[in-house]
Amino acid sequence: MPVQGVYKFTESCDNRRIIAGTVESGKLNVGDAVVFFPSGKKTMVKSLEIFHAMCSNTAAPSYFSAGEAAGFTMAEQIFVRRGEIACLESEPSPCVGVKLKANLFWLGKSRFVTGKSYYLKCGTAKVEMHLENIERIVNAVDLSCLMRNYVEKNEVAECILTLEAPLAFDLSGSIDQTSRFVIVDDYEIAGGGIITEAMEADDYDTRNIRWSENTVSADERFRCLGQKGIVVWMTGLPGSVKTTIAQEVERRLVTSGYSAYVLDGDKLRRGLNNDLGFSDADRIENMRRVTETANLFRDAGSITLVTLISPFEQNRRKAREIIGNDFLEVYIKASIETCKARDPKKLYQKALSGQIKNFTGIDSSYEIPLNPDLVLDTEKWNEEECAETLYSFILTHLER
Ligand code: ADX
Repeated sequence: MPVQGVYKFTESCDNRRIIAGTVESGKLNVGDAVVFFPSGKKTMVKSLEIFHAMCSNTAAPSYFSAGEAAGFTMAEQIFVRRGEIACLESEPSPCVGVKLKANLFWLGKSRFVTGKSYYLKCGTAKVEMHLENIERIVNAVDLSCLMRNYVEKNEVAECILTLEAPLAFDLSGSIDQTSRFVIVDDYEIAGGGIITEAMEADDYDTRNIRWSENTVSADERFRCLGQKGIVVWMTGLPGSVKTTIAQEVERRLVTSGYSAYVLDGDKLRRGLNNDLGFSDADRIENMRRVTETANLFRDAGSITLVTLISPFEQNRRKAREIIGNDFLEVYIKASIETCKARDPKKLYQKALSGQIKNFTGIDSSYEIPLNPDLVLDTEKWNEEECAETLYSFILTHLER
């Protein structure tokens, strides 16, 4: 039974905590030993409850069977949450893992790509996930197979998916509700499929890698350097003057005795990212690499000024998640008309005449930040004023 919710009715001193859901297979009786997955917590069923009786004390049935909406209380008060699967201890357990093989059908407007985060919903669980690998794509019309690193709308694919948190699930051919899933991309259902295999996660045992803690702690480094590392993530259209402002702030910081460094999109694309172009998938991979690089600079104690178009809100949110409290998102604001008029590298001109494809603001999208920490309006303020505002903002953050 996938747990749909845990309910408590506080009226009339009712202390029952009722685990509710739909039984998908088997029978549930009072006294049964139940295990929850993925947590592995165990308890006994103390009483059976039905929804309309939860408040009125109507008698519950003597057991629940498959297809029935059920509720039960537990002998011990253990913490259970929505998304877990409750199983009889005497029955086979579901699979639990963070990596699975699946056959899926893609319906999304945008391609299904690696490096982007999605949500997978299976049973009552919802977990963040990534596409790790595409084993093959099947043409739904003539059943021929194709190898590529993305899945387009209306294609069927065999894929490896990695999850951000452990999930309890069944394999296709057993219980439909817990072996089928849907994939959510930006609040919309973009695909669906069946789980065909539970896979071993890549941890240091199988990939021979291990995270070793630094011998210098963050505090020690902070004390010795006299500053903490932060990431100032500057996003905006091409021509919004991100780099000019960042370089001015870097100069002010360094000449005032701080360690600061600009990680610039154009520069990084000459070396670390020289294999990437400007498709959505490449920009997402670009963001992922720059996020990881900036996080290392932060860890090393540097005031890291990232200047990257970074057009997608979801990936900027991901950068904030990875970097944490010392991530400041700064929107370098300038309308597309202003940027076209500035056109410092004459790239808008080339894009408008068709010489460059997928150019941000012309035929590739830019999502304005929803919740930036600071907005620098470059149409109202000149570069000096923007640099001064950002410099003061950074100093205030460093004092916190
Ligand atoms: S991002 O979209 O992946 O974040 P990034 O900041 O690394 O972009 O690189 C943008 C720089 O690449 C721009 O400043 C511009 O000089 C150059 N460039 C070349 N082609 C394009 C394009 N199609 N779209 C945007 N920028 C481009």
